[in-house]
Amino acid sequence: MPPEEVLKPQPLPAQLPAEPWGLFQSWLDEATSKRVQPHPTTMTLALVEPDGRPSARQVICRGVDSEQGWLAFYTNRRSRKGRALAAISYAALVFHWDLLKRQVRIEGPVTSMSAAESDAYFATRPLDAQISAWSSDQSEPIPSRDALLEKVAAIEKRFGVQDGQQTDARIPRPPHWGGYRVWVEQIELWVGQPGRNHDRGLWTRTLTPDGEGFKAGAWQATRLQP
Ligand SMILES: Cc1cc2nc3c(=O)[nH]c(=O)nc-3n(C[C@H](O)[C@H](O)[C@H](O)COP(=O)(O)O)c2cc1C
Repeated sequence: MPPEEVLKPQPLPAQLPAEPWGLFQSWLDEATSKRVQPHPTTMTLALVEPDGRPSARQVICRGVDSEQGWLAFYTNRRSRKGRALAAISYAALVFHWDLLKRQVRIEGPVTSMSAAESDAYFATRPLDAQISAWSSDQSEPIPSRDALLEKVAAIEKRFGVQDGQQTDARIPRPPHWGGYRVWVEQIELWVGQPGRNHDRGLWTRTLTPDGEGFKAGAWQATRLQP
């Protein structure tokens, strides 16, 4: 998006809406439709490691369900983040759309998607992403790039991939790869304003375990000082 098209960002409504989903979805839609950055749906995922220390990395948001109240991402369950989530299943997410002067912070408990849900999403992935899900023991050391490329070649051979084309049956999901849901217990929408008098709306609610997910209480909206 050229700089001249950068929005003069509006503050949040004087009276914060009772629920945050409408605003959040409109911000996400705007960031995506205006192509404000190459990966507008990327979010920082911060977790607590088993030893209590924090760790953070980028992942792509692959779905938002405002009815149930979660955001989804996919990864290797044996990766560093997967191990952190197995120990402490709570996450913080941050979206930052620099040109829109907007930041979104989300916190809440995390659940794993079922095998069937993970299968369905894996089947939509491009071939190179499917190969990589098999060939990378994500977060584990490897002696060289060549060693990694040899693993990729071995997986391509195993699944009958030649010249980037698959000749055999479809590639199944690796059992250690799948989706996670971050259930939104609190969300803050931040918008940059002149004179550093930025605007912040915080929405919080209580989540109680309910089947595979959580049942949400009513939202409480609060304006915060910048
Ligand atoms: C823009 C961007 C998007 C990414 N999206 C994902 C993703 O959706 N899933 C994933 O496993 N890793 C993704 N990565 C790689 C992660 O940031 C990270 O390097 C990797 O998952 C290993 O993290 P871990 O060692 O903490 O488990 C992405 C990286 C970038 C820069």
